[in-house]
Amino acid sequence: MIVLGIETSCDETAAAVVVDGANVLSSVVSSQVAVHSPYGGVVPELASRKHVEAIVPVVNEAVSNAGIDSGMLNAVAVTQGPGLIGALLVGFNFARAFSYTRGIPYIGVNHLEGHINSVFLEPDPPSFPFVALLVSGGHTGIYHVRSHTSFNLMGQTRDDAAGEAFDKVAKMLDLGYPGGGVISRIGKSGDPANIIFPRPYLGKTDFDFSFSGLKTAVRRYIQTHLDEYQQHIADIAAGFQEAVVDVLSFKIINAAKKMECNHIAVVGGVAANQRLRERVLLEAGSIGIKVHMPSISLCGDNAAMIAAVGYHHLVKGEASGMGDDVYSRSG
Ligand code: KG4
Ligand code: ZN
Repeated sequence: MIVLGIETSCDETAAAVVVDGANVLSSVVSSQVAVHSPYGGVVPELASRKHVEAIVPVVNEAVSNAGIDSGMLNAVAVTQGPGLIGALLVGFNFARAFSYTRGIPYIGVNHLEGHINSVFLEPDPPSFPFVALLVSGGHTGIYHVRSHTSFNLMGQTRDDAAGEAFDKVAKMLDLGYPGGGVISRIGKSGDPANIIFPRPYLGKTDFDFSFSGLKTAVRRYIQTHLDEYQQHIADIAAGFQEAVVDVLSFKIINAAKKMECNHIAVVGGVAANQRLRERVLLEAGSIGIKVHMPSISLCGDNAAMIAAVGYHHLVKGEASGMGDDVYSRSG
């Protein structure tokens, strides 16, 4: 089954063509970072307008890169939520109209299910059940994954998402938006042991997270070292990143142990973090647990993961109706 995937939940307009939920023929992501970065975050109204401009060229590019004729598409999968309502509506209405005019089914899917399924776009995917650490700009949670479409949430952040904490700390340090990539780049030349920040919830046996206290600790450090913190930006970045990575890797390894799973997946925008990848690989490897992570281009928002999860719903006979609508929050 050849599925066209569409993703417009936040600040990326994306389209992809995927065969049988696994074989990516094309994946196009048009980022709006340049539009939002002067504001230090995503401006919802601007995001919707940019999606309207980009959606047709991005879909055309995905179909053309796939080397297929659009008549060969069997179905459309589109992000239904969670996300920004105005942004979601652009992709969702496009998918609905595309489906209606072409006479093919469309399926609205959950963005988080998409991230979890991103590991199935790589060779040697995990076997069920496995535990997944989903770390992005909007979400941080651990899931017990029983199939492509059924998950149990084991724990999640009580305040900021991990990516959001990276973004906010980068903003405090005047490093621009989004902050994940730049913090990890600058942190490479710092020493994570020079400034020790708190590890929130590290000692707890549950799978919840909290990152707002850590963010406040960084702010307090800056305020109490106003004259000299600029010379220690690399150490601040490295120390902050190490605190986040310590908590994330500890919790996902513990979740695998608790659920007796031999496979771990790490997905979402923050899964692009090199230090997180290294640490989870090292710690899981030492106890014989296999780690699955999407390649960097499939960590952040993309439509290939949406097409993948859509396929798994479609083969169960599910499809969306013309009266269905988008939603801003999950559950
Ligand atoms: O999955 P994603 O593209 O969008 C959401 O669904 O939220 O994730 C975006 C988040 C941003 O907060 C960004 O700062 C973070 O992923 N991110 C990173 C890295 N690259 C992107 N965080 C840490 N290290 C990175 N290398
Ligand atoms: Zn995402």
